[in-house]
Amino acid sequence: MMNYPSAAQMWQWTLGLPEQLAYRAAGLSELEAPDAPVRRILVAGMGGSGVSGRFLAALADNTSVQIIPWNWASAPSWLTPNDAVLAISYSGNTVETLATVNDALAAGVPVTGITTGGKLEKLLRERERPVFNVPGGLPPRVAFGFLLGTGLRVCSRLSGVELGQPERTTAALTQLRSNLGAAQFAPISVITKSLIERPVTVYGTCPLTAAAALRLKQQLNENAKHFAWWATLPELAHNEITAAGPGKPPRRLCLTLAEKPPPLDSVLDDGEQTIYLRGSGPDPLSAVLGLVFQGDLVSLALAEARGVEPYPIERIIAYKARLG
Ligand code: F6R
Repeated sequence: MMNYPSAAQMWQWTLGLPEQLAYRAAGLSELEAPDAPVRRILVAGMGGSGVSGRFLAALADNTSVQIIPWNWASAPSWLTPNDAVLAISYSGNTVETLATVNDALAAGVPVTGITTGGKLEKLLRERERPVFNVPGGLPPRVAFGFLLGTGLRVCSRLSGVELGQPERTTAALTQLRSNLGAAQFAPISVITKSLIERPVTVYGTCPLTAAAALRLKQQLNENAKHFAWWATLPELAHNEITAAGPGKPPRRLCLTLAEKPPPLDSVLDDGEQTIYLRGSGPDPLSAVLGLVFQGDLVSLALAEARGVEPYPIERIIAYKARLG
């Protein structure tokens, strides 16, 4: 007997990305902007929660605030009380994230949390630090819109720098979703079919698409239980290129925002043909989240094509149980 949410439920949650992004956590407008705007924010989190930090970091690249994604079990020693830590953990019980938060608090660094509850909420409330709650009951990876949207609003508030307009992106993604009728779903099923037989490398060609590449790699792993890696161009031309060659290379998915896609085939020169997914939209956030949205659907379609259930992640649960 199946005792976990169905694949249909996973599709439904995943298709809710636009509404998730529009969600405004209670208390956001009361979040006090610091006297001096924060110039450096460490975004601590793991897996489906932590990946939001990559997007926030890439969105901050063209601004005066530096955002550092952090997926480790301790805080870096260079953090100072003038910096800020944003801890994102959907469950609020992720050991690595809690360890980073404890280090930061001990060093007098202000910490803000985004979670559904757990130990993170308890710890931060005890320390009278702000915590923003997102709706519970989902697997963290399908709560991505809640977490990223809230992260965007918190980082903008702390730094005084606007990193994106979630409301505008909600409108763009809603439009994309209504276009995903039969005709637009066709490319997704074509892509999916070509990924069944072999592992996949997902390529990003700029900081934003690198974040989307990592997200898609994680979704292929967790939803489709499929081996996937991620890499970036131009960096791969300085290492991975030497491993490429005839044989059975991984399938290649390249995420790009550029009109003219980068010539990955000629760079890697192994006879493999790259599948390009190009994002477009009224602004960088909308464009990259359009890619994420389609990638998420590809991961669910691949689960279906491989005959696996997207919801269960028993190995992650067992790992967490071992950590205690
Ligand atoms: C599960 C998922 C995982 C978790 C990760 C951290 O859907 O995506 O990657 O996000 O194990 O747990 P949380 O998000 O609760 O801090």
